Amino acid sequence: MKWQTYFFKEVDSTNTRAVDYDVGSVIIAENQTAGRGRNGRRWQSLAGNLFLSAVLPALQNETPFLSFVAGVSLAEALPDVPVRLKWPNDVLLHHAKIAGILLERVDDKVIAGFGVNIRQAPDRDMLYQAGSLNQKYTPEEVTKNLLTALSDNLDLLMQSGFTPIRQKWLNYAVGIGEEIEVKLPHETLRGLFETLTPQGAISLKTPTETRLISAGDIFLL
Ligand code: BTN
Repeated sequence: MKWQTYFFKEVDSTNTRAVDYDVGSVIIAENQTAGRGRNGRRWQSLAGNLFLSAVLPALQNETPFLSFVAGVSLAEALPDVPVRLKWPNDVLLHHAKIAGILLERVDDKVIAGFGVNIRQAPDRDMLYQAGSLNQKYTPEEVTKNLLTALSDNLDLLMQSGFTPIRQKWLNYAVGIGEEIEVKLPHETLRGLFETLTPQGAISLKTPTETRLISAGDIFLL
């Protein structure tokens, strides 16, 4: 992928702006006034952090896997820190969430929005403990590494399917083989996180059944 980058001082949300751009565009803003997180949550946009949205092609059968491509690419963009991935694509450092990814499909495009706490962590996150990279990287370094990794991993997905991306994801994953809690819109489940299925779902073994879950928030116990 050949990226074309557009910089803004302030936008409402880079994901919202990105809708008007072609595949291969990257929207970066120094500040967002209405940053969005997963499941309708707000994303606090603190000074010095990175807010970036990349416009990806909505691949025919691979679209659900873009979430893992995005997570793995961001993990690979931070090579000298021991980051881990929490399903599907929260980036953790020492158990604290240092980055979140929001994928939104619009027509034949998928907007992949990355919020990376380069300098500051929000004081309080409703769901998880938040952390930051403490400026170990500059936003420019993360951007460069991320766009390279994203391009490489998209090629890998298109050439070899989900198998190698899944393997890379598993190498970064937290919680596999452990007891976890999964919050779904109408219920909360507890069980053993057996594995990530070849379709990208969580296989959760509860006392009564094995459930396959493809959307939700997981909590390590
Ligand atoms: C999450 O973990 O809930 C996902 C957070 C995604 C935040 C980023 S910041 C850049 C892009 N623009 C947005 O409004 N959201 C994403």
